[in-house]
Amino acid sequence: MNSVEGVAIASRGGAPSIFLSNITKAYGETVALSDVSLDLRTSEVHALLGENGAGKTTLMKILYGLTQPDSGQIKADGVALQINSPRDARAAGIGMVTQHFSLVKNMTVVENIALAIARTFSLDLDSVRDAVVAASTRYGLEVPPDAIIGSLPIGLQQRVEILKALMSGCSYLILDEPTAVLGPQDIDSLLEVITQLRSEAKIGVVLISHKMAEIEKIADRVSVLRRGKVVSSSLANGITSKELITLMVGEQESGVVLRSESQSHGRDPILVLDSVVVKMEIGGLNNVSLDVRPGEIVGIAGVSGNGQTELVNILSGTLSIDSGTIAVEGATLTQNTPQLLMRAGVGMLGEDRHASAVHALQVMENLVLDCVDNFATKVQLNRKKMLEHCESAINQFEIKATAKQVFGTLSGGNMQKVLLARLFSRKPKVAIISQPTRGLDVMATSYVRSLISKARLDGTAVLLVSEDLDEVLELADRVAVMYRGSVIGVVDGANASREKIGELMAGIVR
Ligand SMILES: Nc1ncnc2c1ncn2[C@@H]1O[C@H](COP(=O)(O)OP(=O)(O)OP(=O)(O)O)[C@@H](O)[C@H]1O
Ligand SMILES: [Mg+2]
Repeated sequence: MNSVEGVAIASRGGAPSIFLSNITKAYGETVALSDVSLDLRTSEVHALLGENGAGKTTLMKILYGLTQPDSGQIKADGVALQINSPRDARAAGIGMVTQHFSLVKNMTVVENIALAIARTFSLDLDSVRDAVVAASTRYGLEVPPDAIIGSLPIGLQQRVEILKALMSGCSYLILDEPTAVLGPQDIDSLLEVITQLRSEAKIGVVLISHKMAEIEKIADRVSVLRRGKVVSSSLANGITSKELITLMVGEQESGVVLRSESQSHGRDPILVLDSVVVKMEIGGLNNVSLDVRPGEIVGIAGVSGNGQTELVNILSGTLSIDSGTIAVEGATLTQNTPQLLMRAGVGMLGEDRHASAVHALQVMENLVLDCVDNFATKVQLNRKKMLEHCESAINQFEIKATAKQVFGTLSGGNMQKVLLARLFSRKPKVAIISQPTRGLDVMATSYVRSLISKARLDGTAVLLVSEDLDEVLELADRVAVMYRGSVIGVVDGANASREKIGELMAGIVR
């Protein structure tokens, strides 16, 4: 860690003023937190780490009043706090931006903030608007005050959430995996904002993240949770990423994926896109031609917003094409509807795992959502067959959940494993996989990557879209770079240099 700066910064942290003591919380048989104690101070960035399911979100939801502990205590400045709701938490100076935002989509930025800061009396919108503008300048969080939330990109919605918490007057701000939903540039500017909140506004920030690089960059203190227990809490200064990973996972080896020879040479492509055009006011696709062979991973790299989302959407059938063709195994699709694509053997892991699952349904129901017919008799669903299918998937994919558990209660990593199990258990000929390891811990990330490699060895044609260039370079046999809606170049994965890809990402072709 950055030692010199680390010491200087750490000494800025105040005395601990919030103490969580002996917090225990169980959900049925799952013990999410067991006798956890943690203290927080202002003017400090406190990183909270741990594998998927370690209990990070649960602990912070307790502090923010979104859920109640079975036992334990929270004290602020020596006084016991009774936090029964987020309102109580905000009154105690604690704010939180959760993994799923709580903004009202069809209202404006100012209206959303007014809702949050208006307590017992109503505020006039003009004065709230002035306050929003002033606060956004003060904290370096620029937002368009009159824009409708639903029309804003995720990075801006997140800023609104942060502003909302700050304007409610918090001294502590909990951010639950804020960078998991952001592209590289937005991550950098968020990290800057966090540093500024700590140093200038003297706020204590709790940062939950799986990304070692950002923790190294900005954390003053690091606490690690493992299976519901705090295994370490200390100043960040002096701890290496490797030590942190060992603390998170215990002494087990992390699975390293080795690249094997591509099996695809000389084979006909399974997926062929020819001169595909999608016209849109902003974005779209401009003459995209691309092919993927069986047993090959083609990675898509590019600065986000250069057509990657549109590419995934035409292959899931949610965006229709204006001209050009999509062919699977030599047969040109008459239309790119979800049904025709699925029937042709195209499977999908979408970027937004919450959109492709039903949180209120069980794990086993989610697992068969797109192939319910296989489990239906004339009159009813064969739940016994579904259960067997699910139990074998839980085994095979090492999912930490039970078949009948409600999907929405799974940790992020385990949700992703269920969706991958759904994709791969259908044995698709072509798998379109978008941002597969977003929000996943180190072990889950390497596991998911090994699943993708395995699918390639089994002969699946994989199109991998990822904002993580390391991931693309680790997995892809060929890397296609997108720029302004076109594939601007394709390079060989094994010999791809970052410089070459970086140039293409910037639109430079030599
Ligand atoms: N409402 C709930 N009902 C049942 N089990 C739950 C519920 N909320 C959390 N759990 C379980 O508690 C454990 C801790 O979950 P938590 O969400 O706190 O993990 P996390 O550390 O935030 O993981 P991630 O990094 O994946 O977000 C998990 O085993 C999870 O399945
Ligand atoms: Mg979490």
